[in-house]
Amino acid sequence: MGENILQLEAIKVRYSGLPVLHDISLHVDSGETVCVVGSNGAGKSTLLRAIMGTQRVFEGRVVFQGEEIQRLRTEAVVSKGIIYVPEEKMLFQPISVEENLRLGAYVLHDRGTIEKNLRFVYTLFPRLQERRFQAASTLSGGEQQMVAIGRGLMSNPTILMLDEPSLGLAPILVDEVLDTVRRLKAEGMTILLVEQNVREALDLADRGYVLQTGKIVAEGTGQELLKSDMFRSAFLGI
Ligand SMILES: Nc1ncnc2c1ncn2[C@@H]1O[C@H](COP(=O)(O)OP(=O)(O)OP(=O)(O)O)[C@@H](O)[C@H]1O
Ligand SMILES: [Mg+2]
Repeated sequence: MGENILQLEAIKVRYSGLPVLHDISLHVDSGETVCVVGSNGAGKSTLLRAIMGTQRVFEGRVVFQGEEIQRLRTEAVVSKGIIYVPEEKMLFQPISVEENLRLGAYVLHDRGTIEKNLRFVYTLFPRLQERRFQAASTLSGGEQQMVAIGRGLMSNPTILMLDEPSLGLAPILVDEVLDTVRRLKAEGMTILLVEQNVREALDLADRGYVLQTGKIVAEGTGQELLKSDMFRSAFLGI
């Protein structure tokens, strides 16, 4: 894989004085898909929010392309090329698919680049092109998730962070959304993925980290983690 893009060095996060993340260190290299798995409340979303600057980092460093960013405001983090697609998709329901997508390009000013990125999103998700004038509210759950991801791609991010993109979807749509992630990976996108469908997510990821009550308790390639005893007993019940 390519050079280091994102590195967390022993970050600590607290909520009203209470520690929720303890000395988290991880890295994502260019072109990698890295997955963080962990049960409800482990701190996965908090980790992504700490990178985005929507959650204060109490101690430790977040380094993006060689630069410390843990004290930057979220707008600055976004304009550096870090895009976060949160658990709650937060689409604007009454407006069209295409208008939702265009909102993702708000940091860009060049029309040509915006149109090029829109074409890329439509190539990736032909179904969104077919439905581009439909209100977001009329889409299926899986299609709405594609809009949320597509909106993130509209700014041509250096790293795309997806927080449980398959949350709340029926099994068939889960596969569809994870397939989307697989295609993005094939396009060379650098991805940090948080998922509850641990088996599928680790299967598609290059590497993974297991987060348990705010600590990283295991790391390795997706295949290594799927085979490890600790992991199998904690997540798969076998
Ligand atoms: N704003 C907040 N104030 C106080 N505690 C919080 C806040 N947000 C999250 N927490 C707590 O921090 C811990 C980690 O939460 P977080 O949302 O990061 O978990 P998660 O791994 O994303 O869980 P899930 O899989 O349910 O989304 C939980 O115990 C949660 O209750
Ligand atoms: Mg979460």
